[in-house]
Amino acid sequence: MNLREEVRARYAEAAAFPARGGCCESTCCDSAEFGQSLYSDSERDELPDAARLASLGCGNPVSVADLHEGEVVLDLGSGGGIDVILSAKRVGPTGVAYGLDMTDEMLELAQGNAREARSSNVHFLKGLIEEIPLPAESVDVVISNCVINLSTDKAAVLTEIARVLKPGGRIGVSDVVAEDHLSAAQRAERGSYVGCIAGALSRAEYVSGLEAVGFEDVSVEFTHAVADGMHSAIVKARKAT
Ligand SMILES: C[S@@+](CC[C@H](N)C(=O)[O-])C[C@H]1O[C@@H](n2cnc3c(N)ncnc32)[C@H](O)[C@@H]1O
Repeated sequence: MNLREEVRARYAEAAAFPARGGCCESTCCDSAEFGQSLYSDSERDELPDAARLASLGCGNPVSVADLHEGEVVLDLGSGGGIDVILSAKRVGPTGVAYGLDMTDEMLELAQGNAREARSSNVHFLKGLIEEIPLPAESVDVVISNCVINLSTDKAAVLTEIARVLKPGGRIGVSDVVAEDHLSAAQRAERGSYVGCIAGALSRAEYVSGLEAVGFEDVSVEFTHAVADGMHSAIVKARKAT
């Protein structure tokens, strides 16, 4: 099984956790620092129980994306749909929130959660974050929560984000990021690929990767440690106009 199929199999299995009462021991994102505790009480109150329990992220991209009424938001690797449902509330009926995921079981879970939340301005798309199934310059804001580290082709993901964003569009991403001194082998010693550790970019790799595809004002802010020298981080950037 190749790495992408391992990731898909792991998150197909994780999609069953909410029905069993929550996540997850070592089966998905490994650390206790991952998950639903990163949302405020008021955000949790906006969500159905199943959506809260489905959270497998490492941050809260909705809180950093500063969404406005009428915007088009795209969540890469939307999982159980928590950030799509919250985004849909922020952009309101004149906006749209898309969730993109490659795993059928996660898409089914997210659609059920969105129905329960009575979200009408959400669309879940099946596909790869390396080949986003949306037209160029059609999105105002790209968010993502603990997914880009799982991609086997990060350069393609960053290129695709730049393609779908409108000029001046922005990203507000939560992801696991390594300190620059850690080699790929050292990152792999600290945790598994499917557990969101081994595939993490370093801060310098994130910055240079985003700048290479036309982003400005790039920042990578570490928020809390998830392993030795590895952090949950908020990544922000703006596409040049
Ligand atoms: C760690 S979970 C995070 C889910 C969600 N963002 C959250 O915060 O709960 C990773 C999700 O990304 C999806 N995923 C991983 N790699 C992907 C890829 N290359 N293309 C599309 N989806 C992917 C998985 O199916 C899974 O639903």
